[in-house]
Amino acid sequence: MKDSTQKHIAIFASGRGSNAQAIIDYFKDNNTIKVALIVTNNKTAGVIQIAKDNRIPFDIISPAELKEEETILDLLELYQIDLIVLAGFLLLIPAYLVRAYPNKIINIHPALLPKYGGKGMYGMKVHETVLSNKEAETGISIHYVNEKYDDGEYIAQFRCHVEPSDSTDTVAAKVHKLEHEHYPREIEKLLK
Ligand code: GRF
Repeated sequence: MKDSTQKHIAIFASGRGSNAQAIIDYFKDNNTIKVALIVTNNKTAGVIQIAKDNRIPFDIISPAELKEEETILDLLELYQIDLIVLAGFLLLIPAYLVRAYPNKIINIHPALLPKYGGKGMYGMKVHETVLSNKEAETGISIHYVNEKYDDGEYIAQFRCHVEPSDSTDTVAAKVHKLEHEHYPREIEKLLK
C-alpha cells in the first residue's frame, strides 16, 4: 500500500522503451514517485526486458483487452496508478479510460504538434516527413491524451534544429535526446 504522498506511474509502451528507461532511471531514487507498472500490447517489445531488469511488474494486453473497461481499471487500481504515461504506445486510448483518468494520461510525440501528428504518424515516418518538407526545426510535444491521436491539450514543447545534412537517423537521435531529457521532468512537475 502507498500513502497519500506517494505517486504511482504506469508506463504504456509498444516498442524499444528508451523513454520508459529514461523515466525509470530518473525516478529510481525518488521516495515519493515511482514507476509501479508497465503495460504493453507487444509481446516482443524491448520494454518488457526493461521491466524485468528493473523489477517492475508488467502486463501484456491485447487490443481487445484494452477495450475491456473492468479488466484495465482493475489493473490500474491494483497498482494504485495516479498518472498514465504513454511512451510510444501505438493503440488508441479508449474513451472509458480517458474519462476514468481525466488529465491523468499524457503522451509524448516526436514532432512539434499540430504538425506531423495523427493516425499513422509515428516512428521514422514522422522524421522522414519533416525532412522531405525541409523543415528548419522539429522537436517534441508532451500533451494530455483525449480520444483522438495526438490531439489533447499541450503541456510542453521543446525544439531542435534540422540541418540540411541531417538524415532520419540523426533527426531521430536529436529528438530522442530531447525526449529523454524533458519527459521525466515534465512528469515530475505534474505529480508535485
Ligand atoms: C518516441 O519517439 C515517442 O515520441 C513516440 O514513440 C517513440 C518511442 O520510443 N511516441 P521508445 O520506445 O521510447 O524508444
